[in-house]
Amino acid sequence: MRQPLDRFSERAGRFRESVIRGMSIEAAKYGALNLAQGFPDFPAPDALKQAACDAIMADVNQYAITWGDKALRAAIASKYDWHQGIQVDPETQLTVVCGATEAMIVALTAIINPGDEVIITQPFYENYWPDCVLTGATPRFVCVKPPLWRLDLNELESAFNEKTKALILCNPSNPTGTVLTSDEIQAVADLCKRHNTIVIMDEIYEHILYDGRKHISMAAVDGMDELAIVISGMSKTYAVTGWRIGTILASPELTKRMRQVHDFVTIGAAAPLQRAGVVAYHFDQDYYTRLAEGYQRRRDFFCDALKQAGLPFNQPEGAYYVMADISSFGFANDREAALSLVRDAKVAGVPGSSFYLNQTGGDHWIRFCFCKREETLTAAAQKLIEFAGTRAAI
Ligand SMILES: Cc1ncc(COP(=O)(O)O)c(C=O)c1O
Repeated sequence: MRQPLDRFSERAGRFRESVIRGMSIEAAKYGALNLAQGFPDFPAPDALKQAACDAIMADVNQYAITWGDKALRAAIASKYDWHQGIQVDPETQLTVVCGATEAMIVALTAIINPGDEVIITQPFYENYWPDCVLTGATPRFVCVKPPLWRLDLNELESAFNEKTKALILCNPSNPTGTVLTSDEIQAVADLCKRHNTIVIMDEIYEHILYDGRKHISMAAVDGMDELAIVISGMSKTYAVTGWRIGTILASPELTKRMRQVHDFVTIGAAAPLQRAGVVAYHFDQDYYTRLAEGYQRRRDFFCDALKQAGLPFNQPEGAYYVMADISSFGFANDREAALSLVRDAKVAGVPGSSFYLNQTGGDHWIRFCFCKREETLTAAAQKLIEFAGTRAAI
């Protein structure tokens, strides 16, 4: 007779619930400020919200073309042109999906066969491991180490072998805040060419870079047309994480396969929100300049608070997260520290170990996100500094 546990797939049992989303639930439970999950608590641009309302009222309410609203793909292509200087054919190279989250699953599903390995840098954005489990990829981790969290290109190279099918990189990086230099990007591209390996670049933070850094898309690197799958989307750039609009740029051959997968997974992203996205992708340079400046102010403010709280960290170069070393708090591990923080200080962060497989590393780090209003960050900073004071007195 079938045992109760046989009702479930072995696959779904191999990964745990998201610690990031779990910390959001804890934040709500304790009425804490949520510096755990990376979503802005400030409004999306008015023009974008109006465009969504207009699209619904204009009855853009049925399925869009499965691989994305034509006008949206054209707008995305035109942004790649001025922002990255690359010519993209929206008819054959772009796919619109339900967030960068779906994009990663679609990309892996389209290329992975049983036994294929995927290289992932660790600490990694939490979704990448379940993505591998769901798509049958075998991850091979390359650690980036504190305090600088920089990619060691020799270590990366030694991870390549005959089973390597792809490399996943997040640039700018969640959770470490590092941004690859142009030399590093070129070196990664050279490695991928040498090993004929696809690189899946998660570039969801492509517009959030600090201190004058400029984003270089892997799609803009010479000779990567056939090997780069570039993932991005609207969530972070336009403060609409709930809209679930993601994008994939790749060669026509890869795109064809990914569109097929996407079609049967979700059919398509929300049609009126895709239509509204046309407005966003036509925002001018000024929007992106202000976006980066606003985040840089938040970064500077929050990093200053970490200093006042006596927590070591590496200043983020991009994205909107910072890993803080909480050893001085004196807890047994990061999970206990994060639980005490959310319960007692009413500030939620994410235990660093959740960015490592089987939580085997990162046990004296907490990741905080600073994509929040000034009032939220001011209140969180005050609570964090007070908490650090009480821990120091113990
Ligand atoms: C690196 C990274 N990739 C993907 C996502 C998810 O993006 P989306 O909202 O487009 O699914 C996130 C969200 O935090 C992220 O940090």
